[in-house]
Amino acid sequence: MDNDVIQMMDADKIKTKKELLAELKALREKHDALVSSKTKTAKSSSVSRPDTDYMNILNEIDDGYWETDLKGNLTFCNEAMKQITGFSLEELIGSNYRIMCDDKTAELIFNHFNSVYNSESPRKTMIYDITRKDKTERAVEISVSLIRSSSGTPTGFRGILRDVTERYRAMDLEESFNMMRKALGQTVHALSLVLEVRDPYTAGHHRRVSDLARSIAAQMNFNTHRIDGIRIAGSIHDIGKISIPSEILSKPGSLTDIEYKLVKMHPQMGYDILKNIDFPWPVAMAVYQHHERINGSGYPLGIKGKEIIMEARILAVADVVEAMASLRPYRRAIGIDRALEEIKKNRDILYDADVADSCVNLFLEKGYQLKN
Ligand SMILES: [Fe+2]
Repeated sequence: MDNDVIQMMDADKIKTKKELLAELKALREKHDALVSSKTKTAKSSSVSRPDTDYMNILNEIDDGYWETDLKGNLTFCNEAMKQITGFSLEELIGSNYRIMCDDKTAELIFNHFNSVYNSESPRKTMIYDITRKDKTERAVEISVSLIRSSSGTPTGFRGILRDVTERYRAMDLEESFNMMRKALGQTVHALSLVLEVRDPYTAGHHRRVSDLARSIAAQMNFNTHRIDGIRIAGSIHDIGKISIPSEILSKPGSLTDIEYKLVKMHPQMGYDILKNIDFPWPVAMAVYQHHERINGSGYPLGIKGKEIIMEARILAVADVVEAMASLRPYRRAIGIDRALEEIKKNRDILYDADVADSCVNLFLEKGYQLKN
């Protein structure tokens, strides 16, 4: 029976499932208590309708409580049924349950009743879209159990109807957010690949810088959201190189002054490409500033220290370490040891001291290795 509910949930939402199951458990206990209370009352007073105390209890709960005959005609509804369905009690009682749903849902609920009747299963909870009197739709959780006469013969159904619309909307929003996030990741990856196709020597550079920058940010105890932004910025930080002729990017040996000036334009070009994308992080600015240096000796702006955003200070270190450790068209790989020496030597001169320390610590203490 729990599986019925679980199947309707997103498989990834473990917490929500747990919450739902806990709520269902509480609901069932409440239902059991009500049923038990009603049974005792009915036996002691030999009346078929709830007595005053029982009515008060039923009318205080936020969940709808209802009873029908075997044909699904409502014989009793509590006050909450009015709020949830928008119909008055006079309209509900005597009407068929179909008053609150379209034909498709009515069929599903009919099958639900049928299954409870045939299996004589005491409870079964399902979720349906019902239609209120004002024609708006609500998602409701309905539990159904059999009503039996004193001789044990089934005489109708009773159950709880709970409005779960808001919970479902929240789940839909979360699902949409996750889809958007996935789409954004794919778009960023595609951007990164476009550059790598034109510049095979930097194939993998984006990926390795992204992973190292993310790891440095985690080492610095940044929150998950900020780490995500740094990872994204790392994976496209050289996107501006797309505007540089591939002969220059893959040229063996030294660049001429003009060629070098052209290459140094890539942070500005990257910024221009990204500045109109509404990332929830300062991605364009991090890309713009990733060649700036703490003492102001970087480019394109020559800004210093905290004028450079932290995201860019992290990218700068990750970029230098990865670049030195890897092969380039104009030189062999220098190696990770020399790269770390460079970072240590220029700590607080070219590179942010905390970022440099975290990076060195990551490699020397935590055994971090650049990804292949
Ligand atoms: Fe760069």
